Formats: sequence, structure tokens, C-alpha cells
Amino acid sequence: ALAGAAATLAELEAAVRGFAGCALKRTATNTVFADGAAGAELMVIGEAPGADEDRIGRPFVGRSGQLLDRMLAAIGYDRRHNAYITNVLFWRPPGNRKPTNEEVAACLPFVWRHIALARPKAVMLSGGTATSALLRRAEGIMRLRGRWFELEVEGIDGTVPAIATYHPSFLLRSPARKGEAWRDLLALQSKLKSGQ
Ligand code: URA
Repeated sequence: ALAGAAATLAELEAAVRGFAGCALKRTATNTVFADGAAGAELMVIGEAPGADEDRIGRPFVGRSGQLLDRMLAAIGYDRRHNAYITNVLFWRPPGNRKPTNEEVAACLPFVWRHIALARPKAVMLSGGTATSALLRRAEGIMRLRGRWFELEVEGIDGTVPAIATYHPSFLLRSPARKGEAWRDLLALQSKLKSGQ
């Protein structure tokens, strides 16, 4: 109900900041809502803030964020102009552990409303947590990456295309997978450029 009542991104951010329904908030330093160009055609959804993001209060500012920025730059996108970046979780899980299903479920209505209000032309689901949270599919990211899905978002007529791809922190650990991620980025670029 809180998420649905937000009529603008600023109202949604205020609702998230005031939300006490996710226990992670108590151990986090900051609420990490979003970064980048509100209203951008590309919306990136990651997993959860890490230590750097928690300290600074913005998503994807640590090592994996720097890789994300380079990946986006390679297809002509950056958070200052034409990309909008957020996570499924707005608070850091202690020690960067994987979020629980309950934590994801508590934040998810805000994420759906976030998409409805940001109105991107395409969504990049960065990693397994964002992919399974938004697609509600049992297969893991290894099977789902590189594929397009149509998100049905309350408040948006039609659907929003979303591509699942590897998370940059996975790519830092497994650089041999960068070729697949590059193919996903090119698919994303051509989707964004189509029909313009
Ligand atoms: N990993 C994420 O998924 N999100 C961030 O903001 C930082 C690291």
C-alpha cells in the first residue's frame, strides 16, 4: 500500500526511507534508493548495497559498480545522462550475505512501483537475485541470461522488456564469462536503439 500510494519517484524514495518492514534497515548505515538519470530509457536493477554503497548511500559505487559503469559506457550509457540504477534491496545485508526470501519480498512492491514510475524502455536485470525476484522463475541466472522477458508492471500499459545478465561482481570473479555479458549488452543496446 505504501509503494502504491507513491505518485512520483521522490514520493517513492520518501516511502522507502520511512519503511520499517525490512529488518536490514536496522543494521544498515544508509538507505540506498537509486542513482542516475530519473526517467532514463535504461533501468539497471542489481541485488543489494555492499559496504561501499552502504557507506555512501548510492548504488553500485564500489568495485562492481565501476565495472558496471564500464559495461554501460561500452554501449553508450552512463548514470549521469541516460541510465538509472537501483537494487532489489535498499539496505545492505550484514557481511554482504545473500538476501533472504523474506527480505526480497518486503522490498519487492517498492521495486515494481519503482519501475512503474521510472518508465524505462528496457530493464537490465543484473544477476540472479534481481532476475528471480522479478521474473519469478525457478531457473538460475546461468539458464536465464541473454534472454528477453516482458515485465507486466501495474500502472504501465503494455509490458517492459527486461534482459537477464550476469552481475558485475560475478564477472569480477569469473572474467571468462565476460564474452556472454558482452553479447547481452549488445542485445540491450539494439533493443534501446530500436524504434527511435
Ligand atoms: N552489488 C549490487 O547488486 N548492488 C550494488 O549497489 C552494489 C553491489
